[in-house]
Amino acid sequence: MGVERICCIGAGYVGGPTCSVIAHKCPEVTVTVVDLSQSRIDAWNSPDFKLPIYEPSLKDVVMQCRGKNLFFSTDIDKGIREADLIFISVNTPTKTFGLGKGRAADLKYIEAAARRIANVAGGDKIVVEKSTVPVRAAESIQRILSANTKPGSNFQVLSNPEFLAEGSAVSDLLKPDRVLIGGEDSRYGHKAQDDLAWVYQHWVPKDKIIKTNTWSSELSKLAANAFLAQRISSINAMSAVCEATGADVAEVAHAIGTDSRIGNKFLQASLGFGGSCFQKDVLNLVYLCEALNLPEVAAYWQQVIDMNDFQRRRFANKIIGCLFNTVTDKKIAILGFAFKKDTGDTRESSAIYIAKYLMEEGARIQIYDPQVEHQQMISELSDPNISENPDRVKKLVSIFDDPYEALKGTHAFVICTEWDEFKDYDYQRIYSSMLKPAFAFDGRRLLNHNKLMEMGFHVETVGKKTVMNGMFPIAS
Ligand code: UDX
Ligand code: ADP
Repeated sequence: MGVERICCIGAGYVGGPTCSVIAHKCPEVTVTVVDLSQSRIDAWNSPDFKLPIYEPSLKDVVMQCRGKNLFFSTDIDKGIREADLIFISVNTPTKTFGLGKGRAADLKYIEAAARRIANVAGGDKIVVEKSTVPVRAAESIQRILSANTKPGSNFQVLSNPEFLAEGSAVSDLLKPDRVLIGGEDSRYGHKAQDDLAWVYQHWVPKDKIIKTNTWSSELSKLAANAFLAQRISSINAMSAVCEATGADVAEVAHAIGTDSRIGNKFLQASLGFGGSCFQKDVLNLVYLCEALNLPEVAAYWQQVIDMNDFQRRRFANKIIGCLFNTVTDKKIAILGFAFKKDTGDTRESSAIYIAKYLMEEGARIQIYDPQVEHQQMISELSDPNISENPDRVKKLVSIFDDPYEALKGTHAFVICTEWDEFKDYDYQRIYSSMLKPAFAFDGRRLLNHNKLMEMGFHVETVGKKTVMNGMFPIAS
């Protein structure tokens, strides 16, 4: 029993942290993470540990294992050849063209990885699908492998979806709620499941390791993300009702969250969810349901996305409405560009959409984020789906290293990410440096609104009607 060498294809947000923690917890196992991208691998290998992704505690884990039993390399073939167990952790973005455009997952990277494994691997290997994929993708991987297998090679394909959330990846990996391992219902399938379970049992209690059939495992990952996204859309839908009625969504969330059947987690109203998973996976589920001729089920889940889009649009409209229905040439600061705190990841961040809607009105956007690289923000905003003309981004967007500079001379600021440091700023100083009336739009319900109002700010947030002196219109 056991695995001596692991290779992970894909050194991204999933593959990098997962394999670092496996190496840390299984010192007798050699773990090699491979990637096509030389720059990404160079960053993982950088002498000063300037890793390509920011995750609390990740650097410490990598520092302890790199060069001992954890290696990062672009020699993909060698990694595959030497491994007993291969994780596929490549990206599965939403398709941007062709059949299923905008909804189906693009499996070209998965297929390329599977073909590469088939071409170079010899002997018995366990191939583990870690990337989130549509149901029955493991079957496709198995077919590609079987059709190209060299004599004497055998592959067992497992599904082992990753449930880590960015920003808490290391602690999620160290203390997972569960580890899910789906496999073929056969002697060889069970043996492969046991081998992978052996790796996790180094630190995960046995009763938290769930073994299922492959398709249940694949669908469980989509279902978990769909349920989580649905909760956020549900509380955001309530936030709109709160703003219209005078109820406070935080009080509603607390009241319903005390019901143990509902639970109190993931009920934070916001300006919409972002990240690489929720939208992609819900759309993937919608596409799957349509393909299965279940249009009512597809429409049900599509609403989760529609509500998220509505929430972003609604918040942008509130900003524009409050600023006297015109933001043309007005400077507006965006605080936070990452899709959540404690990560530098910007994929599908709501900040992108708020900036887009404000840019469409001709606003001048001044952005500050403590982690996101400047070039990353410009590249997100210059995407053709966000801005038709990249020159307009150059003209309208400025990025700052100092939050106080970003806020100087602005009409308003918008909190898009819940970074802790935003709570500790000197808002009196900020108020003095802004144009009056000075507006604070708190898309994360992060700040002390009463204090801000005492200083003179006009405050607007999500899920709560702020009572001002009746001086300014509250946007609908
Ligand atoms: C998610 C899942 O949580 C994780 O299990 C899965 O493996 C990948 O997708 P992630 O996208 O990294 O993880 O972060 P998560 O913490 O789930 O947040 C997603 C988005 O929802 C963020 O934009 C966050 O700000 C937002 N959110 C979360 C809310 O708006 N309200 C909440 O109550 C919780
Ligand atoms: P995730 O959030 O799912 O981890 P990322 O985009 O952060 O996604 O990481 C996926 C990684 O997989 C990228 O670094 C990409 O270069 C790598 N990759 C994609 N296809 C292949 C492949 N065929 N071989 C090796 N690496 C690959």
